[in-house]
Amino acid sequence: MNSVKAFAPATVANVSCGFDIFGFAIGEPGDVVELRKRDEPGIIITDIIGDEGRLPRAAEKNAVTVVMLHLLKHLDITDFGCEVVLHKNMPLGSGMGSSAASAVAGVVAINELLGNPLTRQELLPFAMEGERIASGSAHADNVGPSLLGGFVVIRSYNPLDIFTIPVPDDLYCTLVHPDIEINTKDARFILRNEVSLKNTIAQMGNVAGLVAGLMKSDYDLISRSMVDVIIEPVRSILIPEFKEVKKAAIDNGALGCSISGAGPSMFALSRGIGNATKAGEAMQRQFAAAGIESGLHISPINKNGAIIL
Ligand code: HSE
Repeated sequence: MNSVKAFAPATVANVSCGFDIFGFAIGEPGDVVELRKRDEPGIIITDIIGDEGRLPRAAEKNAVTVVMLHLLKHLDITDFGCEVVLHKNMPLGSGMGSSAASAVAGVVAINELLGNPLTRQELLPFAMEGERIASGSAHADNVGPSLLGGFVVIRSYNPLDIFTIPVPDDLYCTLVHPDIEINTKDARFILRNEVSLKNTIAQMGNVAGLVAGLMKSDYDLISRSMVDVIIEPVRSILIPEFKEVKKAAIDNGALGCSISGAGPSMFALSRGIGNATKAGEAMQRQFAAAGIESGLHISPINKNGAIIL
């Protein structure tokens, strides 16, 4: 095999109460990475389409290629060379797991080109290195679901312990991306380092409730558990119209609504595509009333994650 193309989907991280420990993949959009073997050793980015020239072109600075360099080093391969084309199909700083999708597509593509020496689970620490270079923190709640698909729980970072849980088939995600940008590094910087015991107890209850609600297909429990008392109150000030958009989603049939990843995108979970669509249209109308354009994506939870095209 001399060339390969991989797709990795956008993701919703945190999922309300699960800061850095919950994430799920959606159907579209997603980034695509094309690799073509070359005779000389070394990895070269030949083109990035869709980033308006904003991402670094040097292999050791871009999330899509950093993951490949880490993998080659781990496998002790020194004579491998390839050209990389990255199709960025989602906005940067959107809260849709943009850098994670690039890193995952990159690591899945090179693993395929090398004859799949590593399993999907084994690729995870390499994909996380892409997040480190992009946002300064190697969190796994975007790369995990983009790589593995489904709804991911990260029980522990050290040692890494990550698994997927079943979700109801009729659960739909509405993702609304307002036309503003938030840098993940900044959105992490504003968070407090200390949390009160009262808020910790409330958050733990909701985390347990959301996992149980998803696994039991108990939509009321999912709805009651989509409450974040720690991160959302701090970060929501970065998103204009946050409260109004959230209310619009819930008033129009969503089970719950919160910030997607570090924002500014907002997501809602709903039972059925009808509710998901109604909620999404209401969320967009609310942003539009404040003069903010937005993009809308509706999808069930993507159980496949990254795929070879
Ligand atoms: N868990 C991360 C955060 C996701 O909220 O900062 C951002 O990509």
